[in-house]
Amino acid sequence: MIKNIAVLGGDGIGPEVIKEAIKVLEVICLKTGVKFNYNNALIGAAAIDKEDHPFPDTTKSICKTSDAILFGAIGDPKYDNDPKAKIRPEDGLLEMRKYLGLYANVRPIQTYSSLIDASPLKKEIIKNVDFVVYRELTGGIYFGDKGVSKDGNTVYDTCSYSKKEIMRISELAFKEAYKRKKELTLVDKANVLSTSRLWREVVQEMAKTKYSDINVNYLFVDNAAMKIITNPSDFDVILTENMFGDIITDEASVITGSLGMLPSASIGDKISLFEPIHGSYPQAAGKNIANPMAMILSAGMMLNLAFNMNKESDILQKAVKDAIDSNIVTEDISSKNNFSTSYVGDWIANRVTDLF
Ligand code: IPM
Ligand code: MG
Repeated sequence: MIKNIAVLGGDGIGPEVIKEAIKVLEVICLKTGVKFNYNNALIGAAAIDKEDHPFPDTTKSICKTSDAILFGAIGDPKYDNDPKAKIRPEDGLLEMRKYLGLYANVRPIQTYSSLIDASPLKKEIIKNVDFVVYRELTGGIYFGDKGVSKDGNTVYDTCSYSKKEIMRISELAFKEAYKRKKELTLVDKANVLSTSRLWREVVQEMAKTKYSDINVNYLFVDNAAMKIITNPSDFDVILTENMFGDIITDEASVITGSLGMLPSASIGDKISLFEPIHGSYPQAAGKNIANPMAMILSAGMMLNLAFNMNKESDILQKAVKDAIDSNIVTEDISSKNNFSTSYVGDWIANRVTDLF
C-alpha cells in the first residue's frame, strides 16, 4: 500500500511535533511494508511570510491530491496583538476546513492513570473519564455573514445552520454512540438561540426515527461547561456546534492533565485531516521542549480512520501510554524529570518497534 500524506507543519511548535509523528510512522512503514509519501506544504503565518496568503494555492492542490493530511499548529503572536491585521494565520485554517469540507471534528478525551496527578482536578472526579466530542467544524458563527455598519461603530458575526449541516455530523456522532455506551449528549443553547432549537429538532427526529436504541440527553452549554468539570465521567459522546465545541474541548483538556496530550481528527467526505488540539505555543518553538504526544496520537487516528490500520494504531497508542507510564514525558507534564521533544519521539518510535 502506498499513501500520499500532505504534511502541514504550520507555525510555532507545529513543524517540531510533526517531525516526531513522522518518525513513529516510519517505524510502522518499516514493519508493515506500507509506504507513505510525505508532501510538505505551507500554511498559517509561515505561508503569509513566504507566499502572502495563509492557505496558498500550492497547499490547496497538495491537500486535494493527498490521501490524508497531517497538520501541526497555527498562529503567531505578531498577529494576535493586532486586531486590525488584514490577513491572519487562522484564516488559513478556516479556509482549509471549508475548502476541504472537513465538517466533523472528533476530539477524544481520556485520562491516563499515571497522569492523574498532572490534572488540577481531583482524582476521584477524573478517574475513568473517557468521552469523545463531535464538534461541527464548517458552519455556525465561524462562517456566517460578518459585517460592519456604515459608521464603523457596530460589527456583527452571524450564526446560521442548515438541517443538512446538522444531520451529517449527527449521523457520525450517533454511529459512534452505537460503538460505545449508546449515550449521546447534545450540547446547545436552545433556551436562547434559534439555531440551537434547530439542532434539537433535527437530533430529536433522528433519535426517534433512526437511532431509537441511543439514549439522548440535551444540555445547555453553560450547564455542560460545569458538568465537564464536576462530573466528566457521565459523558460518552458529546455532539455540539462549532463554537461551543471549540470552547468545551479546551476546557475538557484540563481533565487529561495537558493540552499537549489531545489528538483530533477533522473528517470530510473525501479527505480527513489529523491535528493536535493544542496551538502553536510560540514561546516553546525551536526549543525542543514541546510535547509531541498529541501529534503522534493524531497520526494514530490517521492510521485508524483514514487507512484502516487499526492494529498499528493500537500499537502506537500503547507505545504512547508506555512512555507516560515510564515517565518519558516533556516539561508540560513533569516540571522536574522531563525529556526533550525529540527524545520522547525516539522513545515512542523504539517502543513501537518492540511492540510489533
Ligand atoms: C481549534 C482552534 C481554532 C478554532 C483556531 C486556531 C481558529 O482553536 O482548532 O480549536 O477556533 O477552531
Ligand atoms: Mg480551539
